[in-house]
Amino acid sequence: MEKTKVTCLKNGPYEITGELSIVDANGKVVSKPGVATYHLCRCGGSQNKPFCDGTHAKIHFKSE
Ligand code: FES
Repeated sequence: MEKTKVTCLKNGPYEITGELSIVDANGKVVSKPGVATYHLCRCGGSQNKPFCDGTHAKIHFKSE
C-alpha cells in the first residue's frame, strides 16, 4: 500500500496522493475508487469543495 502524502502546493491546493477516502460533511464518500491523486481547495474559493476547481489562480491566492 502506498503511504498517503499531503503536499501544500505553492499558491494552490493541497495535493493528496495514496490510498484514502474523502468524506463530506454529510458522511457521503466523495472520493472515487481507483483515483490516487486529489487536489483539495485551501483558498476557500472553489465552487466544487472540497475539491480545487482552479479558482485560486483567478483570485490570486497566496500561500504563506
Ligand atoms: S485551492 Fe484551488 S480553488 Fe481553492
